[in-house]
Amino acid sequence: MTDQANPPAVKKLFIKTYGCQMNVYDSQRMAEAMGADGYVLTEDQADADMVLLNTCHIREKAAEKLYSDLGRLKPLKAERPDLKIGVAGCVAQAEGEEIVRRMPLVDLVVGPQTYHRLPAMVRGEAPAILTDFPPEDKFDHLPARTSLNRATRRAPAAFLTVQEGCDKFCAFCVVPYTRGAEVSRPVDRILREARDLVDRGVREITLLGQNVNGWHGAGSGGEWGFGRLIRALGGIEGLDRIRYTTSHPNDMADDLIAAHRDVPQLMPYLHLPVQSGSDRILRAMNRKHTAAGYLRLIDRIREARPDIMLTSDFIVGFPGETDGDHQDTMRLVAEVGFGTAFSFKYSPRPGTPAHDRPEVDSRVADQRLQELQGLLTKQQKAAQEGMVGRALGVLFEKPGRQAGQMIGKSDYLHSVFVDAPQAQVGDLVRVRIVESASNSLRGELAA
Ligand code: 5AD
Ligand code: SF4
Repeated sequence: MTDQANPPAVKKLFIKTYGCQMNVYDSQRMAEAMGADGYVLTEDQADADMVLLNTCHIREKAAEKLYSDLGRLKPLKAERPDLKIGVAGCVAQAEGEEIVRRMPLVDLVVGPQTYHRLPAMVRGEAPAILTDFPPEDKFDHLPARTSLNRATRRAPAAFLTVQEGCDKFCAFCVVPYTRGAEVSRPVDRILREARDLVDRGVREITLLGQNVNGWHGAGSGGEWGFGRLIRALGGIEGLDRIRYTTSHPNDMADDLIAAHRDVPQLMPYLHLPVQSGSDRILRAMNRKHTAAGYLRLIDRIREARPDIMLTSDFIVGFPGETDGDHQDTMRLVAEVGFGTAFSFKYSPRPGTPAHDRPEVDSRVADQRLQELQGLLTKQQKAAQEGMVGRALGVLFEKPGRQAGQMIGKSDYLHSVFVDAPQAQVGDLVRVRIVESASNSLRGELAA
């Protein structure tokens, strides 16, 4: 019970999020959970009562950032010993108490499946290191999205995690170890969370999962696949835009492809990682699809939704990759034509099957990465320039720096700057694109 005469003091929480969108979502949910204990978010780390670092373990560089950031926190902790420092996310899961051994200033370590217990950990009512995979579902123990407090700012676009973990075991990837086995959240909980978000003004939801299109669950009339879930979300009044990420090519079921044709709220944008264009490397990566299979899939998706924009992930310099394999990747990219794509140099990760395989010469890998990024950048530029003259939907997410300016996202997820002095955050408007800049577009309100 709260003592009316002495309401709990407001405490300030600073969260830094590394890595993927699932981490962004987890950070929001942790902020909401801490909000129930009187914490509000602050942008100023120096002013915080608690600093929470929500980490990523996908590549070595991402993991090392944690330790350099913790090093930088030392003076602040020395000045204010009661400052609480917590580490969450996939480095927390992978390294556990090793983090505290290496950096004794850390008070709490919490994995991605246990963060519903973060408030109890902070209160000292749960162990300071929690990285197990508990039998209970964390989502059942987190505050509902309708109870969002001041800790979470209102925004018209939101994430919603529907699936977690991965059973695919690509030879390079830590996700099956840090996030665990594939688990789909139940239909009713997802629909409730979506409705809660819409009730508080959200118009666009991005469904999240490491293998989001592998989602399945029991719904009315039997087992639902991901396409069926999207159709159900399409029936929610006030939900104007639906997106999802990240997908595996082998889980692009017919019903999901059909949803791209049939559900108008599903945006014409698909992130579909292929990783390599070489069948030999795809086999070594344990991807279980071929380059030709991927291209056939793209044809079918484009048949269902001709204006769809495709994006992807690539790894260059995977162990055993030859110049010939790299050229296969370049050919695949040339053939598909991506709207944008992420490309990474292979980074050996502890505990993964590829970790001890002989590495490609680092300079050769750098060169290949540069060549691939050159082509992808050209394609990105072409895709952006292709938007000029088109009228697109834009959802305003924040005011721009100039007076009367708004910044929003187009159907294709490009940032669009628009002069719209009468408009408000949350307006979804038609915009004619008039200019393509390096990483954004400029548009004018369409009549
Ligand atoms: N090295 C480099 N890139 C990786 N990715 C995953 N693991 C590694 C690794 N060990 C990339 C993949 C994946 C994206 C999220 O990160 O391309 O799709
Ligand atoms: Fe990692 Fe492969 Fe699973 Fe994606 S599908 S999370 S790359 S193991």
